[in-house]
Amino acid sequence: MELTDIVGILSRLIHISSAVTLLGGLLFARQVLVAVGQTDLIARYSTAMQAAIAGLLLSGLYNLLTKAALPKGYHAIFGIKFLLALHVFAVALLLPKADAAKRARSLTGILVSGGLILALSAYLRYLTLNP
Ligand code: HEM
Repeated sequence: MELTDIVGILSRLIHISSAVTLLGGLLFARQVLVAVGQTDLIARYSTAMQAAIAGLLLSGLYNLLTKAALPKGYHAIFGIKFLLALHVFAVALLLPKADAAKRARSLTGILVSGGLILALSAYLRYLTLNP
């Protein structure tokens, strides 16, 4: 195993842990905090969300730039994933500033985008393994 392999594994670890932290927190907020009318508590999760967003961007760019070759169709699917990710990041960062009704709606919207991102990521993985 070479150093670049170890960095690659660490980068994947950061990517997956950040995705779990961000989407898991948002799902909890949507399913639990909305039900008990306490979405203002999302502000307590801001630092974790910011760290997860930074982790996703840095590890994602690293993963992309170190790919040996991009299979046919990869760029198009990646472009859609990236735009959806920007939607999730922007709206998640603005959540603490939104009013309660808007917060509940925004959470639903970014969880839909988050689900689509996971599906596109699974397909990108397939394209990588089956170029
Ligand atoms: C909400 C945001 C995001 C989520 C939930 C997410 C989730 C995931 C997941 C679950 C994987 C599959 C992990 C694996 O099998 O190795 C993945 C792979 C990947 N992600 Fe993300 N990601 C997000 C944002 C980003 C961003 C912003 C970038 C680029 C700057 C990025 C670039 C990549 C790349 C290049 C891969 C490898 C795909 C492949 O196997 O070819 N991701 N992502």
